[in-house]
Amino acid sequence: MRENIVAGNWKMNLNAQEANELTKILVNSTQNLGNTPKVILCTPNVFIPQTVSQTQNSAIKVGGQNCSRFDKGAYTGETSASMLKSVGAEYVIIGHSERREYFNESNTQLLGKIKQAQTNNLKVILCCGEPLQERSSGNHIHFVTNQLEDLFNQLNKEEIEKLIVAYEPIWAIGTGETASPEQAQEMHAVIRRLLAKYLGEGGASEISILYGGSVKGNNAKEIFSNPDIDGGLVGGASLNANDFLAIINAF
Ligand code: 13P
Repeated sequence: MRENIVAGNWKMNLNAQEANELTKILVNSTQNLGNTPKVILCTPNVFIPQTVSQTQNSAIKVGGQNCSRFDKGAYTGETSASMLKSVGAEYVIIGHSERREYFNESNTQLLGKIKQAQTNNLKVILCCGEPLQERSSGNHIHFVTNQLEDLFNQLNKEEIEKLIVAYEPIWAIGTGETASPEQAQEMHAVIRRLLAKYLGEGGASEISILYGGSVKGNNAKEIFSNPDIDGGLVGGASLNANDFLAIINAF
C-alpha cells in the first residue's frame, strides 16, 4: 500500500543511552501525529529491542539496516532476517550504497537478502542511486534503471509489490548537497514507470518511493510535494530529534 513514510537511518551512530533519549523524545512528540507520515527508525541491530520496547504504544515502527542473505548457521557476525523479526523489527533497509560500496554487496547478494527478509515478513526498503560520475555524464537514468531491473527481473510480482523503493543519489548522501526537487521527481517517475512494467500502472501507483540524500527540515516540504515522492530516507538529520521532527512535520 502506498503511504507517506519518513524513515530514519541512524547508520553506525549513537550509543544505547543516546538512542534511548532520542527515541523517547520522538515518541512523545509524535503522539498526535496519526498515521501520516509513517515514521520508521532503522537503528543499529543492538538497539532494536530497546527501540521496539520504547515505541510499542506509539505509531513509530522499527527496522534494521541490513540482514544476512543466509537463513542461519555458521556465519560469524551476521544477523538473520528471522532474528530481526524475532526482536520486533518490521522493516529492513537492503542495498544501501554504503553496503554496496564498503562491503561489496552485489545484486546477487542483495537478491538473497530481499528473499530472506520477505520470507520472514520484514518489509524491504530497497535502495538505489547513482554515483556522481554517472550523474555528470548524463547516464544516471540508465544506471538506476539497470540497478533495479537486474533485481526486478529475478523477483516475482508478489515480491516486487511488497517493496518500498528508496532513491538515494550517492553524491547527495551526507554531503549537504540535495538533488533538486526536479531531479528527484524525474528519477522517481522513471522508477515508477519501470515498476509499471512489472506490476502494471495500478500496481506501480501503490508503491512508496522515498528520496534520500541530505533531506533536512528546510528542504523536506519542497521535495515531498512532488507527485512521485512519497517521503524520505533520512541519515544525518534523523540523529537529532528536532531536525527529524521538522522533516516528519513537513507532511
Ligand atoms: P543523509 O541524510 O545524511 O544524506 O543520508 C542519507 C542516507 O544515506 C539515508 O539512508
